[in-house]
Amino acid sequence: MPTVTIQDVGKHDGQVVTLQGWLYNLRQAGKLLFPIFRDGTGTIQGVVSLKDQPAAFESLRGLTQESSVIVTGRIHTDQRAPGGFEIQITATEVVQRVPDDKPYPIQLKEHGVDFLLDHRHLWIRTPRQAAILRIRAEAVRAGHEYMDTQGYVLTEAPIFTPASCEGTTTLFEVQYIDDEKAYLTQSGQLYVEATAMALGKVYTFGPTFRAEKSKTRRHLTEFWMLEPEAAYSHLEDMMTLGEGLVSHIVQSVLKNRARELETIGRDTSKLASVKAPFPRITYDEAILILQKQGNPAKWGDDFGGDEETILSSAYDRPVIVNRYPAAMKAFYMQPDPQRPDLALGFDMLAPEGYGEIIGGGERVADYDLLLKRLRENNLPEEAFGWYLDLRRYGSVPHAGFGLGLERTVAWICGTEHIREVIPFPRMIYRVYP
Ligand code: 4AD
Ligand code: MG
Repeated sequence: MPTVTIQDVGKHDGQVVTLQGWLYNLRQAGKLLFPIFRDGTGTIQGVVSLKDQPAAFESLRGLTQESSVIVTGRIHTDQRAPGGFEIQITATEVVQRVPDDKPYPIQLKEHGVDFLLDHRHLWIRTPRQAAILRIRAEAVRAGHEYMDTQGYVLTEAPIFTPASCEGTTTLFEVQYIDDEKAYLTQSGQLYVEATAMALGKVYTFGPTFRAEKSKTRRHLTEFWMLEPEAAYSHLEDMMTLGEGLVSHIVQSVLKNRARELETIGRDTSKLASVKAPFPRITYDEAILILQKQGNPAKWGDDFGGDEETILSSAYDRPVIVNRYPAAMKAFYMQPDPQRPDLALGFDMLAPEGYGEIIGGGERVADYDLLLKRLRENNLPEEAFGWYLDLRRYGSVPHAGFGLGLERTVAWICGTEHIREVIPFPRMIYRVYP
């Protein structure tokens, strides 16, 4: 008998197979039992009768939720069964029975979110959560695939860093060896700027950290970012790369994770249109759009969640807002030569109120300007000595961006909060489990 996964049972219609999983639910109707099994790839309903299979019936009768169990039986098509198939059980082996006096804490009913987050190590077993994590994995796979097809080489950035990249207010300080201080990276950008000068087109994908004091549905303190960087590259190149990357991720999830999108009930018609090119507007235009909608935003203001939602709601795919006022952007942003009060940077805003999924742009390439910017921002020059070197030895125009994985996956899945799209979310008041 072949051992198969639930996602593959369709290839074994009519055959006897073995499944290895857990008991998700159990219903008894007289001398029939209808267990539902899960194995991480999906769920399937089984059926066993006391009359035909007394041993299997007895081993399953009263079996506790989440007991681990190996099941053998014949697969057959059943239109009424969720998933379209059923297993007619002939044999079972209970690997570990969850004790009756210590039942599985997550029942098949509504639980409060704090309870679920305290039990995140178990919550991820539920079909919805497992489906979200499978979609996340596909987004990562497709992201790597796209970067590879565009000729970008994966280079890793360090996590312990000597200085801040995205402002000192959200910096996690750690005690390094002896009395030295280090910081958890907020972005791999500064380091991929260096590897881009060594290899041409590079990207990093790794965890990044922000001591975010904001308790919103879009903020984690630990999240993953995919960050391309290319030598001899400009703002326009990065807007094009960003829309290509996001289109490829969304279309790959639609193609390869259709079952999971169905499990979580995502309206996929809203994702089908996500194809490059994406609309592009300047910051100046964005302000006019906001004012027309009655929003009090004025030139020079940063956009919050409300403004991002208004701007993105006019489109069926992400919108790229470019050329923000330089004063509100990071120290490394290259000024627009036509209008030095603007930075050659862009944000990509996802539809349906999911906000900024990408931030990036062109970097300051000139040594003196960068030094001036570091000083204006009160950043420690010693810690940036190596970064200044990149402008001393063969500086070139270069650009890149960071795609926030969780923001992107939360939008693709349509989850209310981004905490659901990472296995173990780290948030302002949560580092457990
Ligand atoms: O816009 P940000 O801060 O840009 C950077 O860090 C650049 N250095 C990236 C680069 O150019 N290489 O962050 C990039 C993205 C945001 O657009 C957002 O998607 C995500 O990272 N992000 C967060 N995601 C979850 N929780 C947070 N606290 C986030 N902060 C940023
Ligand atoms: Mg940003």
